[in-house]
Amino acid sequence: VVRVQRKIAVVGTGYVGLTTGACLAAIGHHVVCADIDAGKVSRLRAGQVDILEPGLAELVRRGLDAGRLEFVVGAPAAIHTDTEVLFLCVPTPMGADGSADLRAVESVLREVGDLLPEDCAVATKSTVPVGTADRLSRMVNAPIVANPEFLREGSAVDDFLHPDRIVVGSSDRPAARRVGALYEPLQAPTLILDAASAEMVKYAANCFLAVKLSYVNAIAQLCDRVGADVVAVTEGMGYDPRIGRSFLKPGPGWGGSCLPKDANALVHVAESVGLEFPLLRSAIEQNARQQADVLDRVRQACDGTIRGARIGLLGLAFKAGTNDLRDSPAVRIADALVAEGAEVTAHDPAISGELSGIRLVDDPYEAVKGAVVVIVLTEWPEFRTLDWTRVAELMDGFTVLDTRNLLDGDPLTRAGLTWRGMGRPV
Ligand code: UGA
Repeated sequence: VVRVQRKIAVVGTGYVGLTTGACLAAIGHHVVCADIDAGKVSRLRAGQVDILEPGLAELVRRGLDAGRLEFVVGAPAAIHTDTEVLFLCVPTPMGADGSADLRAVESVLREVGDLLPEDCAVATKSTVPVGTADRLSRMVNAPIVANPEFLREGSAVDDFLHPDRIVVGSSDRPAARRVGALYEPLQAPTLILDAASAEMVKYAANCFLAVKLSYVNAIAQLCDRVGADVVAVTEGMGYDPRIGRSFLKPGPGWGGSCLPKDANALVHVAESVGLEFPLLRSAIEQNARQQADVLDRVRQACDGTIRGARIGLLGLAFKAGTNDLRDSPAVRIADALVAEGAEVTAHDPAISGELSGIRLVDDPYEAVKGAVVVIVLTEWPEFRTLDWTRVAELMDGFTVLDTRNLLDGDPLTRAGLTWRGMGRPV
């Protein structure tokens, strides 16, 4: 039951901003979303969503039809005299020194600072370093509320509508409560905190996940060398509720638009206050080693030299269910192979177009044709059911390197292929 309908402005229509806007409209609020990209705004007005996010396009269209969701060009156009909360959802990319680049956030605030009605709260959704709320407070005469999101790409709508928790933090507690109240229909535990703690929750959570994955990737490498099976090992670990079953899958390294950026930023935050964070640093280093390990395996399968070898890649997105290539381990590996002189052909069910140095094809069988090695880099379920006999006929070599432990090895072996997982016994 929706008790209040609030007037909300959302600036930035990337996957966080658009999900936030469409979902807030779906739970009854009136939302105006702004973006500087006029082409994108007109596509959104027509109900066209560029990003692949299950359920999002439908929510956008429903919001438009219900008159609760609008799209405008430029942040100032989103602010009205009755706007109650402004959400900042613009990118905070990693700057040259690893710190988060806040220029987009600050430039929006400069644009709208004088337009904000009294009592309008500014909520930061973009992941911003601890202390940002205070810093922004000095720029505008409005309460700043840190309201980190915990959305995973590929399940952002579902995560938004069924949150584990809502975190809001501000030195202005009533403003934090007003922002928290927007989510009341979702009936999630709501933490009203100070701004620094709210900002810290996000980094601490994402970096914990990064450390967990680096740990599991290192365990997988160890399993390989001692002849243990990482699938069995992580199952055995996961029964312990203190560890949990999720986020224990080894892979080609962790990537995406969040984990690498946040891990680097938190190391930077720590250094800026005179603290080393060797644990997190080594999680980042381990992630690079994971990629080097994949390349070593490819080299072995190519009899020592990658130069001139034809290599087929299955998957390029940083994880299945998205078409996002940002900081994708698959792309890093593809680039490294190209740099070593390989001829790389890739197929990803969600990606088409041009990629420099790589031949991108629409058909998985085209990607494996003539390949000495095939590497599975994204865990798309459709790769499981490929016709491996056909793959074997098309390939020039035998090795299928399954960096996601996605495939069932038996059909590959029957087809005469050599299947290699990560941390799986041969
Ligand atoms: C991550 C967090 O999971 C979200 O909670 C957070 O809100 C989001 O960042 C954010 O800061 O916005 P996301 O980047 O969408 O979400 O992707 P994840 O599902 O966390 O995957 C991150 C990386 O870890 C991917 O490269 C994925 O392939 C890898 N991964 C994940 C594994 O290698 N093994 C696993 O078991 C899980």
